Amino acid sequence: MYAFIFGRDKLLGFIELISWLKARSIDYSMINYAEDFSYCIIAVDDAVIDELTTWIAGTVKIVKITCFWHSIESINIEELTAVVNAVINDKINYGINIFVNASRKKREQIYSIIKQKFKQFFNANKCKARLVMPRLKHKLHYLQPKEIITKKLIESKTDFCFFISESVVYAGYTVKLINPEQFKQKDQARTAVSIEAMSPRLAKILINLAGLKQESFMLDPFCGIGTVLVEATLLGINVVGTDINENKINAARQNVKAITSKTVPVIKADATKLAEIQAGLMQNAKFDAIVTEPYLGPLLRHLPSYKQAKLFKQKLEKLYNAFLDQAAKLLKQKAKLVMIVPYFKTKGKKKRIVNINLKFEHFRIYNAIAEYKPDAIPITYNTKTKIGRLIYVLERC
Ligand SMILES: C[S@@+](CC[C@H](N)C(=O)[O-])C[C@H]1O[C@@H](n2cnc3c(N)ncnc32)[C@H](O)[C@@H]1O
Repeated sequence: MYAFIFGRDKLLGFIELISWLKARSIDYSMINYAEDFSYCIIAVDDAVIDELTTWIAGTVKIVKITCFWHSIESINIEELTAVVNAVINDKINYGINIFVNASRKKREQIYSIIKQKFKQFFNANKCKARLVMPRLKHKLHYLQPKEIITKKLIESKTDFCFFISESVVYAGYTVKLINPEQFKQKDQARTAVSIEAMSPRLAKILINLAGLKQESFMLDPFCGIGTVLVEATLLGINVVGTDINENKINAARQNVKAITSKTVPVIKADATKLAEIQAGLMQNAKFDAIVTEPYLGPLLRHLPSYKQAKLFKQKLEKLYNAFLDQAAKLLKQKAKLVMIVPYFKTKGKKKRIVNINLKFEHFRIYNAIAEYKPDAIPITYNTKTKIGRLIYVLERC
Protein backbone atom coordinates (compact mmCIF):
# COMPACT_ATOMS: atom_id res chain seq x y z
CA MET A 1 0.00 0.00 0.00
CA TYR A 2 1.36 3.44 -0.92
CA ALA A 3 0.43 7.05 -0.27
CA PHE A 4 1.00 9.58 -3.05
CA ILE A 5 1.37 13.21 -2.05
CA PHE A 6 0.57 15.69 -4.76
CA GLY A 7 2.27 18.97 -5.59
CA ARG A 8 0.92 22.41 -6.36
CA ASP A 9 -2.01 21.32 -8.55
CA LYS A 10 -3.23 18.53 -6.30
CA LEU A 11 -6.24 17.41 -8.30
CA LEU A 12 -4.14 17.35 -11.46
CA GLY A 13 -1.51 15.17 -9.75
CA PHE A 14 -4.23 12.81 -8.54
CA ILE A 15 -5.82 12.46 -11.99
CA GLU A 16 -2.38 12.03 -13.60
CA LEU A 17 -1.56 9.10 -11.30
CA ILE A 18 -4.85 7.31 -11.95
CA SER A 19 -4.58 7.95 -15.71
CA TRP A 20 -1.10 6.40 -15.71
CA LEU A 21 -2.31 3.25 -13.91
CA LYS A 22 -5.42 2.93 -16.09
CA ALA A 23 -3.48 3.36 -19.34
CA ARG A 24 -1.44 0.30 -18.36
CA SER A 25 -4.41 -1.66 -16.96
CA ILE A 26 -2.55 -1.97 -13.65
CA ASP A 27 -4.67 -3.37 -10.81
CA TYR A 28 -5.05 -0.99 -7.90
CA SER A 29 -7.60 -0.21 -5.25
CA MET A 30 -8.28 3.19 -3.76
CA ILE A 31 -8.03 2.93 0.01
CA ASN A 32 -8.43 6.57 0.92
CA TYR A 33 -7.98 10.07 -0.43
CA ALA A 34 -7.92 13.51 1.16
CA GLU A 35 -10.92 15.75 0.61
CA ASP A 36 -8.64 18.42 -0.86
CA PHE A 37 -6.84 15.81 -3.02
CA SER A 38 -3.54 16.54 -1.26
CA TYR A 39 -2.86 12.79 -1.09
CA CYS A 40 -4.35 9.41 -1.89
CA ILE A 41 -3.60 5.95 -0.54
CA ILE A 42 -3.82 3.04 -2.92
CA ALA A 43 -3.04 -0.65 -2.81
CA VAL A 44 -0.79 -1.39 -5.77
CA ASP A 45 2.00 -3.85 -6.52
CA ASP A 46 5.49 -2.85 -5.25
CA ALA A 47 6.96 -3.65 -8.67
CA VAL A 48 5.09 -0.71 -10.25
CA ILE A 49 6.66 2.03 -8.13
CA ASP A 50 10.06 2.41 -9.83
CA GLU A 51 8.63 2.81 -13.34
CA LEU A 52 5.83 5.02 -12.13
CA THR A 53 8.37 7.37 -10.55
CA THR A 54 10.12 7.93 -13.86
CA TRP A 55 6.83 8.91 -15.55
CA ILE A 56 4.67 10.95 -13.24
CA ALA A 57 5.34 14.61 -12.52
CA GLY A 58 2.45 15.79 -10.35
CA THR A 59 3.37 13.66 -7.31
CA VAL A 60 6.02 15.00 -4.96
CA LYS A 61 6.43 12.13 -2.57
CA ILE A 62 5.62 8.41 -2.37
CA VAL A 63 5.23 6.78 1.04
CA LYS A 64 5.13 3.07 1.77
CA ILE A 65 2.31 2.47 4.25
CA THR A 66 3.27 -0.09 6.85
CA CYS A 67 0.91 0.39 9.81
CA PHE A 68 -2.50 1.67 10.67
CA TRP A 69 -4.31 2.42 13.92
CA HIS A 70 -7.79 3.58 14.79
CA SER A 71 -6.82 6.67 16.77
CA ILE A 72 -3.91 9.05 17.30
CA GLU A 73 -3.54 7.79 20.87
CA SER A 74 -2.93 4.22 19.69
CA ILE A 75 -0.05 5.16 17.35
CA ASN A 76 2.82 2.84 18.25
CA ILE A 77 6.29 4.02 17.21
CA GLU A 78 7.94 0.71 18.06
CA GLU A 79 5.61 -1.07 15.68
CA LEU A 80 6.27 1.52 12.98
CA THR A 81 10.07 1.44 13.19
CA ALA A 82 10.15 -2.35 13.48
CA VAL A 83 8.16 -2.89 10.30
CA VAL A 84 10.17 -0.26 8.48
CA ASN A 85 13.41 -1.76 9.71
CA ALA A 86 14.62 1.81 10.03
CA VAL A 87 18.21 2.50 10.94
CA ILE A 88 17.97 3.45 14.61
CA ASN A 89 21.21 4.72 16.06
CA ASP A 90 22.61 7.83 17.72
CA LYS A 91 23.43 9.54 14.46
CA ILE A 92 20.08 9.32 12.74
CA ASN A 93 17.88 12.18 11.69
CA TYR A 94 14.18 11.61 11.36
CA GLY A 95 11.16 13.54 10.14
CA ILE A 96 7.55 13.62 11.23
CA ASN A 97 5.03 14.56 8.56
CA ILE A 98 1.35 14.79 9.27
CA PHE A 99 -1.42 15.03 6.71
CA VAL A 100 -4.75 15.90 8.25
CA ASN A 101 -7.64 18.13 7.33
CA ALA A 102 -7.67 20.24 10.51
CA SER A 103 -7.02 23.72 11.83
CA ARG A 104 -3.44 24.80 12.44
CA LYS A 105 -4.00 24.57 16.19
CA LYS A 106 -5.31 21.04 15.96
CA ARG A 107 -2.42 20.05 13.69
CA GLU A 108 0.03 21.45 16.21
CA GLN A 109 -1.56 19.36 18.93
CA ILE A 110 -1.40 16.20 16.87
CA TYR A 111 2.20 16.93 15.86
CA SER A 112 3.28 17.35 19.46
CA ILE A 113 1.53 14.11 20.57
CA ILE A 114 3.38 12.18 17.86
CA LYS A 115 6.64 14.00 18.61
CA GLN A 116 6.31 12.98 22.27
CA LYS A 117 5.76 9.36 21.30
CA PHE A 118 8.95 9.39 19.20
CA LYS A 119 10.89 10.98 22.08
CA GLN A 120 9.73 8.29 24.51
CA PHE A 121 10.61 5.59 22.03
CA PHE A 122 14.14 6.91 21.41
CA ASN A 123 14.72 7.47 25.15
CA ALA A 124 13.67 3.90 25.88
CA ASN A 125 16.17 2.76 23.23
CA LYS A 126 18.88 5.06 24.60
CA CYS A 127 19.18 6.72 21.23
CA LYS A 128 19.79 10.43 20.59
CA ALA A 129 17.99 10.66 17.26
CA ARG A 130 17.53 14.18 15.91
CA LEU A 131 14.16 15.41 14.69
CA VAL A 132 14.30 17.48 11.49
CA MET A 133 11.81 20.25 12.09
CA PRO A 134 9.57 21.36 9.22
CA ARG A 135 9.87 25.02 8.28
CA LEU A 136 6.70 26.18 9.96
CA LYS A 137 6.69 29.49 8.18
CA HIS A 138 4.75 27.61 5.50
CA LYS A 139 2.29 26.64 8.25
CA LEU A 140 2.72 23.03 7.23
CA HIS A 141 3.59 20.08 9.38
CA TYR A 142 5.58 18.22 6.78
CA LEU A 143 9.08 18.44 5.37
CA GLN A 144 9.97 19.88 1.99
CA PRO A 145 11.87 17.66 -0.52
CA LYS A 146 15.07 19.69 -0.06
CA GLU A 147 15.10 19.04 3.71
CA ILE A 148 14.53 15.31 3.18
CA ILE A 149 17.36 15.11 0.65
CA THR A 150 19.95 17.04 2.66
CA LYS A 151 19.26 15.04 5.82
CA LYS A 152 19.33 11.74 3.86
CA LEU A 153 16.01 10.61 5.32
CA ILE A 154 15.13 8.34 2.39
CA GLU A 155 18.33 6.32 2.85
CA SER A 156 17.70 5.84 6.57
CA LYS A 157 13.96 5.17 6.00
CA THR A 158 13.18 7.72 8.67
CA ASP A 159 10.95 10.27 6.97
CA PHE A 160 7.83 9.11 8.83
CA CYS A 161 4.41 10.13 7.49
CA PHE A 162 1.01 9.98 9.19
CA PHE A 163 -2.25 10.26 7.24
CA ILE A 164 -5.00 11.02 9.67
CA SER A 165 -8.72 10.77 8.98
CA GLU A 166 -11.62 10.46 11.41
CA SER A 167 -11.50 6.72 11.89
CA VAL A 168 -8.01 5.68 10.89
CA VAL A 169 -4.36 6.74 10.97
CA TYR A 170 -2.15 5.30 8.22
CA ALA A 171 1.59 5.54 8.71
CA GLY A 172 4.73 4.70 6.81
CA TYR A 173 8.00 6.06 5.48
CA THR A 174 8.98 7.95 2.34
CA VAL A 175 10.44 5.77 -0.40
CA LYS A 176 10.57 8.21 -3.32
CA LEU A 177 10.77 11.90 -3.89
CA ILE A 178 10.01 13.43 -7.26
CA ASN A 179 12.61 16.15 -6.97
CA PRO A 180 11.28 19.50 -8.22
CA GLU A 181 14.89 20.52 -9.02
CA GLN A 182 14.95 18.10 -11.98
CA PHE A 183 12.26 20.19 -13.70
CA LYS A 184 14.08 23.44 -12.99
CA GLN A 185 17.24 21.97 -14.53
CA LYS A 186 15.30 20.90 -17.64
CA ASP A 187 13.72 24.33 -17.87
CA GLN A 188 17.20 25.84 -17.97
CA ALA A 189 18.51 23.25 -20.42
CA ARG A 190 16.35 24.61 -23.25
CA THR A 191 18.68 26.40 -25.65
CA ALA A 192 15.78 28.24 -27.34
CA VAL A 193 13.28 29.96 -25.06
CA SER A 194 9.86 31.58 -25.38
CA ILE A 195 7.65 33.45 -22.99
CA GLU A 196 4.74 31.28 -24.17
CA ALA A 197 6.44 27.99 -23.32
CA MET A 198 4.90 25.78 -20.66
CA SER A 199 6.83 24.13 -17.85
CA PRO A 200 8.41 20.69 -18.46
CA ARG A 201 6.50 19.45 -15.41
CA LEU A 202 3.13 20.38 -16.88
CA ALA A 203 4.11 18.90 -20.26
CA LYS A 204 4.86 15.56 -18.59
CA ILE A 205 1.53 15.60 -16.73
CA LEU A 206 -0.37 16.23 -19.98
CA ILE A 207 1.43 13.29 -21.62
CA ASN A 208 0.27 11.04 -18.78
CA LEU A 209 -3.30 12.35 -18.93
CA ALA A 210 -3.27 11.21 -22.57
CA GLY A 211 -2.37 7.68 -21.43
CA LEU A 212 0.72 7.58 -23.66
CA LYS A 213 3.20 4.74 -23.26
CA GLN A 214 6.65 3.95 -24.63
CA GLU A 215 6.52 3.53 -28.43
CA SER A 216 3.10 5.27 -28.75
CA PHE A 217 2.68 7.92 -31.48
CA MET A 218 1.90 11.48 -30.40
CA LEU A 219 1.30 14.77 -32.20
CA ASP A 220 1.67 18.30 -30.81
CA PRO A 221 0.12 20.54 -33.48
CA PHE A 222 0.91 23.83 -31.69
CA CYS A 223 4.35 22.68 -30.59
CA GLY A 224 5.95 26.10 -29.97
CA ILE A 225 9.54 25.62 -28.82
CA GLY A 226 8.88 21.93 -28.26
CA THR A 227 8.40 21.41 -24.50
CA VAL A 228 5.90 18.56 -24.96
CA LEU A 229 8.03 17.04 -27.73
CA VAL A 230 11.10 16.99 -25.45
CA GLU A 231 9.32 15.37 -22.50
CA ALA A 232 7.61 12.76 -24.68
CA THR A 233 10.86 11.91 -26.50
CA LEU A 234 12.65 11.43 -23.16
CA LEU A 235 9.93 8.90 -22.24
CA GLY A 236 10.45 6.91 -25.45
CA ILE A 237 7.29 8.13 -27.21
CA ASN A 238 7.39 8.74 -30.99
CA VAL A 239 6.52 12.36 -31.63
CA VAL A 240 5.65 14.69 -34.48
CA GLY A 241 5.42 18.42 -33.92
CA THR A 242 3.83 21.08 -36.08
CA ASP A 243 3.53 24.84 -35.72
CA ILE A 244 2.60 27.71 -37.99
CA ASN A 245 5.66 29.76 -37.07
CA GLU A 246 9.01 28.99 -38.74
CA ASN A 247 11.06 30.39 -35.83
CA LYS A 248 9.24 28.20 -33.34
CA ILE A 249 9.82 25.16 -35.51
CA ASN A 250 13.55 25.80 -35.57
CA ALA A 251 13.56 26.39 -31.82
CA ALA A 252 11.65 23.13 -31.21
CA ARG A 253 14.11 21.16 -33.34
CA GLN A 254 17.01 22.78 -31.51
CA ASN A 255 15.58 22.04 -28.03
CA VAL A 256 14.72 18.41 -28.80
CA LYS A 257 18.23 17.84 -30.18
CA ALA A 258 19.97 19.63 -27.29
CA ILE A 259 18.07 17.87 -24.51
CA THR A 260 17.35 14.39 -25.92
CA SER A 261 20.16 14.07 -28.56
CA LYS A 262 17.44 12.90 -30.96
CA THR A 263 16.04 14.40 -34.15
CA VAL A 264 12.26 14.30 -34.46
CA PRO A 265 9.97 15.52 -37.28
CA VAL A 266 8.86 19.12 -36.73
CA ILE A 267 6.86 20.45 -39.69
CA LYS A 268 5.38 23.80 -40.62
CA ALA A 269 1.59 23.49 -40.68
CA ASP A 270 -1.60 25.30 -39.80
CA ALA A 271 -3.44 23.27 -37.15
CA THR A 272 -6.75 24.10 -38.82
CA LYS A 273 -5.61 22.42 -42.06
CA LEU A 274 -3.75 19.42 -40.71
CA ALA A 275 -5.62 16.79 -42.69
CA GLU A 276 -4.15 18.28 -45.88
CA ILE A 277 -0.69 17.15 -44.82
CA GLN A 278 -1.76 13.92 -43.11
CA ALA A 279 0.25 11.77 -45.51
CA GLY A 280 3.41 13.68 -44.63
CA LEU A 281 2.84 13.44 -40.88
CA MET A 282 3.03 9.68 -40.37
CA GLN A 283 2.59 7.99 -43.74
CA ASN A 284 -1.18 8.30 -43.24
CA ALA A 285 -1.12 6.28 -40.01
CA LYS A 286 -3.17 7.64 -37.13
CA PHE A 287 -1.90 8.95 -33.80
CA ASP A 288 -2.46 7.45 -30.33
CA ALA A 289 -2.86 10.92 -28.86
CA ILE A 290 -2.63 14.65 -29.42
CA VAL A 291 -1.15 16.64 -26.54
CA THR A 292 -1.07 20.37 -26.98
CA GLU A 293 -1.18 23.88 -25.62
CA PRO A 294 -2.58 25.94 -28.50
CA TYR A 295 -2.39 29.67 -29.01
CA LEU A 296 -4.10 31.08 -25.89
CA GLY A 297 -4.74 34.61 -27.13
CA PRO A 298 -2.54 37.68 -26.73
CA LEU A 299 -0.20 37.91 -23.74
CA LEU A 300 -1.97 40.12 -21.21
CA ARG A 301 -0.37 42.47 -18.70
CA HIS A 302 -3.73 43.55 -17.30
CA LEU A 303 -7.11 41.93 -16.96
CA PRO A 304 -9.12 42.50 -20.16
CA SER A 305 -12.47 44.30 -20.33
CA TYR A 306 -15.54 42.15 -20.87
CA LYS A 307 -15.71 43.36 -24.49
CA GLN A 308 -12.06 42.42 -25.15
CA ALA A 309 -12.53 39.02 -23.51
CA LYS A 310 -15.56 38.31 -25.72
CA LEU A 311 -13.44 39.13 -28.78
CA PHE A 312 -10.68 36.73 -27.66
CA LYS A 313 -13.35 34.11 -27.05
CA GLN A 314 -14.78 34.44 -30.56
CA LYS A 315 -11.37 34.19 -32.23
CA LEU A 316 -10.20 31.26 -30.14
CA GLU A 317 -13.43 29.31 -30.52
CA LYS A 318 -13.05 29.58 -34.28
CA LEU A 319 -9.42 28.38 -34.14
CA TYR A 320 -10.04 25.54 -31.65
CA ASN A 321 -13.19 24.18 -33.28
CA ALA A 322 -11.53 24.16 -36.71
CA PHE A 323 -8.55 22.37 -35.14
CA LEU A 324 -10.78 19.80 -33.37
CA ASP A 325 -12.40 18.92 -36.71
CA GLN A 326 -8.98 18.21 -38.17
CA ALA A 327 -7.71 16.42 -35.08
CA ALA A 328 -10.57 13.90 -35.30
CA LYS A 329 -9.26 12.82 -38.71
CA LEU A 330 -5.76 12.14 -37.39
CA LEU A 331 -6.61 10.10 -34.29
CA LYS A 332 -7.34 6.43 -33.76
CA GLN A 333 -10.66 5.44 -32.18
CA LYS A 334 -10.55 6.00 -28.39
CA ALA A 335 -7.33 8.02 -28.76
CA LYS A 336 -7.03 10.94 -26.33
CA LEU A 337 -6.75 14.61 -27.13
CA VAL A 338 -5.35 16.59 -24.21
CA MET A 339 -5.57 20.30 -24.70
CA ILE A 340 -5.16 23.44 -22.62
CA VAL A 341 -7.97 25.96 -23.06
CA PRO A 342 -7.90 29.46 -21.57
CA TYR A 343 -10.60 31.42 -19.79
CA PHE A 344 -10.57 35.14 -19.10
CA LYS A 345 -11.28 37.00 -15.90
CA THR A 346 -12.45 40.51 -16.69
CA LYS A 347 -11.56 43.81 -15.06
CA GLY A 348 -14.03 46.27 -13.59
CA LYS A 349 -16.45 46.12 -10.69
CA LYS A 350 -18.51 43.33 -12.14
CA LYS A 351 -15.80 40.67 -12.36
CA ARG A 352 -16.89 38.06 -14.87
CA ILE A 353 -15.40 34.95 -16.33
CA VAL A 354 -15.48 34.40 -20.06
CA ASN A 355 -15.20 30.74 -21.03
CA ILE A 356 -14.43 29.17 -24.38
CA ASN A 357 -17.07 26.74 -25.69
CA LEU A 358 -15.69 23.82 -27.63
CA LYS A 359 -17.69 21.73 -30.09
CA PHE A 360 -17.04 18.09 -29.32
CA GLU A 361 -18.70 16.51 -32.33
CA HIS A 362 -16.18 13.70 -32.63
CA PHE A 363 -15.08 13.56 -29.02
CA ARG A 364 -16.42 12.85 -25.56
CA ILE A 365 -15.08 14.09 -22.22
CA TYR A 366 -12.87 11.47 -20.59
CA ASN A 367 -12.82 11.29 -16.79
CA ALA A 368 -10.12 8.99 -15.42
CA ILE A 369 -11.71 9.33 -12.00
CA ALA A 370 -15.44 8.64 -12.09
CA GLU A 371 -15.99 10.79 -8.99
CA TYR A 372 -14.61 13.86 -10.78
CA LYS A 373 -17.41 15.11 -13.01
CA PRO A 374 -16.46 18.58 -14.35
CA ASP A 375 -15.53 18.80 -18.02
CA ALA A 376 -12.03 20.13 -17.43
CA ILE A 377 -9.25 20.24 -14.84
CA PRO A 378 -8.12 23.69 -13.66
CA ILE A 379 -4.44 24.70 -13.50
CA THR A 380 -3.39 27.12 -10.75
CA TYR A 381 -4.25 30.63 -11.92
CA ASN A 382 -1.18 32.50 -13.13
CA THR A 383 -1.54 36.11 -12.05
CA LYS A 384 1.51 37.03 -14.16
CA THR A 385 -0.10 36.18 -17.49
CA LYS A 386 -3.65 37.07 -16.40
CA ILE A 387 -4.98 34.05 -18.24
CA GLY A 388 -6.79 31.16 -16.58
CA ARG A 389 -6.13 27.70 -17.97
CA LEU A 390 -8.18 24.51 -18.05
CA ILE A 391 -7.11 21.08 -19.25
CA TYR A 392 -9.55 19.14 -21.40
CA VAL A 393 -9.06 15.40 -21.76
CA LEU A 394 -11.15 14.21 -24.71
CA GLU A 395 -11.58 10.77 -26.21
CA ARG A 396 -12.12 10.20 -29.93
CA CYS A 397 -15.49 8.49 -30.46
C1 LIG B 1 1.19 28.69 -26.40
S1 LIG B 1 2.25 28.40 -27.72
C2 LIG B 1 2.73 26.74 -27.47
C3 LIG B 1 3.81 26.63 -26.47
C4 LIG B 1 4.38 25.27 -26.36
N1 LIG B 1 3.55 24.39 -25.58
C5 LIG B 1 5.77 25.38 -25.75
O1 LIG B 1 5.97 24.95 -24.61
O2 LIG B 1 6.63 25.95 -26.38
C6 LIG B 1 1.18 28.30 -29.07
C7 LIG B 1 1.83 28.04 -30.41
O3 LIG B 1 0.81 27.92 -31.38
C8 LIG B 1 1.31 28.39 -32.62
N2 LIG B 1 0.15 28.67 -33.50
C9 LIG B 1 -0.71 29.71 -33.47
N3 LIG B 1 -1.67 29.54 -34.39
C10 LIG B 1 -1.42 28.37 -35.02
C11 LIG B 1 -2.08 27.61 -36.02
N4 LIG B 1 -3.18 28.05 -36.63
N5 LIG B 1 -1.56 26.42 -36.39
C12 LIG B 1 -0.44 25.95 -35.80
N6 LIG B 1 0.24 26.62 -34.85
C13 LIG B 1 -0.26 27.79 -34.44
C14 LIG B 1 2.17 29.58 -32.25
O4 LIG B 1 3.14 29.83 -33.23
C15 LIG B 1 2.76 29.13 -30.90
O5 LIG B 1 4.04 28.60 -31.10
